[in-house]
Amino acid sequence: MCGIIGIVTKRREGQTAEIAVECLDRLSYRGYDSVGVATLGDNLEVVKMKGKVEDFSHKFDVNSIRGKVILGHTRWATHGPPTDYNAHPHTDCSNSIAVVHNGTIENFRELKAELEMLGHKFKSQTDTEIIPHLIEEFKRRGMDSFSAFKATVNAIEGTYAILAVIRGDNRIYFAKKYNPLVIGIGEDTNYISSDIPSFLPYTKTIVVISDDEVGYLTADSPLNGGVYIEHKGEKIEVNDRIKIINWDAESASKEGYRHFMEKEIMESPRSVKETISGLLADIDEVMKAVKILKDSRRILIVGAGTSYHAGLLFSILLQREGINAIPVIASEYYNYRTSTDDSILAISQSGETLDVRLAMGKFKAEGSKIISLTNVIYSEISRQSDVSLYTSAGPEIGVAATKTFTSQVASLLLLWSAIKDEDFSYLRNAHIVVEDSLSLSGKASAFGEELAKQSNAYFLGRGLSLPLAMEAALKVKEIAYIHSEAYPAGESKHGPIALVTQGFPVIFINGEEDLGLQDNVQEMKARGSKTYSISINKSLNTDREILIKVNDKRLFPLAIAPLIQILAYRSAVIKGTDPDKPRNLAKTVTVR
Ligand code: F6R
Repeated sequence: MCGIIGIVTKRREGQTAEIAVECLDRLSYRGYDSVGVATLGDNLEVVKMKGKVEDFSHKFDVNSIRGKVILGHTRWATHGPPTDYNAHPHTDCSNSIAVVHNGTIENFRELKAELEMLGHKFKSQTDTEIIPHLIEEFKRRGMDSFSAFKATVNAIEGTYAILAVIRGDNRIYFAKKYNPLVIGIGEDTNYISSDIPSFLPYTKTIVVISDDEVGYLTADSPLNGGVYIEHKGEKIEVNDRIKIINWDAESASKEGYRHFMEKEIMESPRSVKETISGLLADIDEVMKAVKILKDSRRILIVGAGTSYHAGLLFSILLQREGINAIPVIASEYYNYRTSTDDSILAISQSGETLDVRLAMGKFKAEGSKIISLTNVIYSEISRQSDVSLYTSAGPEIGVAATKTFTSQVASLLLLWSAIKDEDFSYLRNAHIVVEDSLSLSGKASAFGEELAKQSNAYFLGRGLSLPLAMEAALKVKEIAYIHSEAYPAGESKHGPIALVTQGFPVIFINGEEDLGLQDNVQEMKARGSKTYSISINKSLNTDREILIKVNDKRLFPLAIAPLIQILAYRSAVIKGTDPDKPRNLAKTVTVR
């Protein structure tokens, strides 16, 4: 977690911190409890504070902070609470070196003790602060800046994406292990960041950094040596790595919407359409994945949070075909032992989630084949897979997954049909189902407004509606801070119903009409519950209802997904929370 940005420019007047703050704003989905900027010109200056990026631009005159090299950081605290001192960038004793870091350093206590013995003074409780002091120490022993940086990287253990500036040159030194880093090549200014959307308005030309690589970036073009990368001492040919991405810059801005979340829900029809056409255009890869899945003894479907819910839905579809499909919560991966006969489907919007990567690592070592479905090309998870499939939802900035979930579900429906050797041309109309469903968003907002007055809620479903109910409960919990839980409707009688008293809201997700939800509605009504439902094609006779007509029932999850998101979004807005940046969360979870 945490978002980092480095900017290095040829412009004589340098760049202002305003640009870094703008980039950080687009990165703040990765963490938002403190923020800071370092600028290197004639002097090294650091400005940082506890708070969000917008607080930073209110507090400081970001236009007057300027440098030829700039580092920025937005934090999700791991070591030490969010305070001004713990905010990054961190510096050395002589204020000549500044560092921003995303990740955790496991051996920082030992290193800090050694550095303190050598006279280094620390100002924060963070693990990161040892990095500038180590660089300083190695330089003090006579090393040049790059050697000192590399020696520092060799000394630390853990996960990291690190950027450092060192007085004396206009370079950004970088190193990566586990946490993402990508370079953006501009005309007179180059960028290096945790994620592409941060610099998307300035360039679409990128170079992705891989694990265990170190190097430095200057303002020159890669053709003139502006990017230098080494892997275990071997120089990497950078020009082979340059890629142009096709995301548009607008997709990383709010375009008049109040929140990214609302905008991204509204983008779902387009995301689903592009996802399906993207997969059809890449049908050879899809069929490679299908062959692996079909030839497997078992399929383990691994994901976290929302991606787990998409995987759970897929596992139900496969189990109904008699296929041995096991949904796996990524962080519980150690409970499973696989073999060469098994295959893994790793689902992750970001392509970075550490638990998913750890699960993949274990299962790969056991000989299983790995297929991934991510939304970020060249992401770590994609690169470590035997077959990489992509949703084409475009960048998602709101912390809560919305259009990417709907696009994951659309992709999984395509895989399911392909596994069954079924004609999947019906999926070309999938986006219309999403579009039609969004025409009912006023009703879903009305549900959300009522829910905002409640402290607790249940979401109940059966069959394929259960993962959707679970997703609804997760969304309401994470952005509206309403305690909501999901259960298989039948299971609700085995405990959860004890909490149901007069007016307790129970929302039924009713995608498959014949599974017996009707009885559960009556049981809840008999106990005074206020019942709601989102139903496909047939009424459930709840107190309040949204009835959606879907001609091709295979597509029904795509009709329900955007409405549960709208419901949660509206509850959050009414409650006055920030749905784009829910407390304690970060979009990309790169810690265990
Ligand atoms: C919830 C949400 C999270 C993510 C989870 C996995 O709205 O966004 O639960 O789904 O952190 O992230 P990815 O899909 O990037 O692996």
